[in-house]
Amino acid sequence: MKILVTGGAGFIGCNFIDYELEKHGEDEIVCLDALTYAGYMGNLNAYIGLPNFRFVKGRIEDAELVDRLFAEEGFDFVANFAAETHVDRSLIDPAGFLTTNVIGTQVLLDAARRYGVSRFHQVGTDEVYGDLPLDRPDLRFVETLALKPSSPYSASKASADLLALAYHRSFGLAVTVSRCSNNYGPCQFPEKLIPLMITRALRDEPLPVYGVGANVRDWLYVRDHCAAIDLIMRKAAVGSVYNIGGDEEHNNLNVVRTILRLLDKPETLISFVTDRPGHDLRYAMDADKLKTELGWRPSVNFEEGMKHTVEWYLANKEWLANVMNADYRQSCERIYGEKKVR
Ligand code: NAD
Ligand code: DAU
Repeated sequence: MKILVTGGAGFIGCNFIDYELEKHGEDEIVCLDALTYAGYMGNLNAYIGLPNFRFVKGRIEDAELVDRLFAEEGFDFVANFAAETHVDRSLIDPAGFLTTNVIGTQVLLDAARRYGVSRFHQVGTDEVYGDLPLDRPDLRFVETLALKPSSPYSASKASADLLALAYHRSFGLAVTVSRCSNNYGPCQFPEKLIPLMITRALRDEPLPVYGVGANVRDWLYVRDHCAAIDLIMRKAAVGSVYNIGGDEEHNNLNVVRTILRLLDKPETLISFVTDRPGHDLRYAMDADKLKTELGWRPSVNFEEGMKHTVEWYLANKEWLANVMNADYRQSCERIYGEKKVR
């Protein structure tokens, strides 16, 4: 199989490439990535030079480049990870989210159709369902729910899912869609909750918890997400949608306390700041369809996964120094500069 992995220099994409090359060493992978602020070439160091790996720098919405790549390579599968992914950035500057997440997906779908790929897998998010109340633990997201995104990010991801499914219905393209809960693990860019808090705690800097820290996310170790995508892409019926989740609901304050405990740092570092506008209260995935039909299960629980993750950041100081550059410091200033300590 020859697989196009878009966004493979980012967090989940690079973990997916690692998973695929380990599990299906006979397959070939081409990674197309624009190397935005979230893409880091160092994430792919281990594969550069392998005969079955090729890296191409470029944007998924660049129709000419995408067409040329499909013509040259003759892909069997496409796994579309490339996206603008940070909710806080989408609240400051939504335009780039539409260009990459919506137009980029459409350009890839058109090429997939033109060149007849046998599977187009769209990597989606639980955020397309909106949120759940904090006082109804009995409710979880199921695949048949109507989409009700809250942020420009989630609205753009909902559009991408719907476009992919429309290409299946209208043109018979062999599409599958997965929607996953919050991931954590090695190589996550330190703008997202867990790596942000780890890196700040390591420097004894204040940890900016939005609101009172009561919002709940359903956490999944990144490699378990990769295993689920691999299964869905290869085994699921075309036109189907699968939820992926860790059954590990934790509120943000408890996540931050776990990090402080693992790093042996004091809770006085916690700083409650102005809430995120439109902040989704709770995400909780019902992944029963994936478990029953394809036999997937998460293999790492939250406590173990967090231990591995903290250890990875402690062991990869050079990686951190490279990604926490001047641009990074500037964007932190843009996001946190206006937030007040409550
Ligand atoms: P990330 O921000 O770490 O990486 C995104 C990658 O896409 C980067 O390498 C970036 O350079 C690349 N990219 C961005 N715009 C591009 C463009 N126009 N053309 C080509 N490449 C481009 O993201 P992530 O956390 O690894 O997320 C990957 C996918 O998984 C996204 O589609 C995201 O919506 C989805 N997802 C993420 C999570 C999560 O918790 N992180 C959960 C569910 C779903
Ligand atoms: O649910 C899947 C989604 O998870 C993915 O689709 C997104 O790409 C990914 O970014 C993530 O979205 P969230 O908004 O849930 O993740 P984030 O890490 O930004 O925030 C997690 C929670 O922590 C959320 O309730 C907001 C809160 N938070 C976040 C940051 C960055 C804080 O309290 N302080 C912070 O500084």
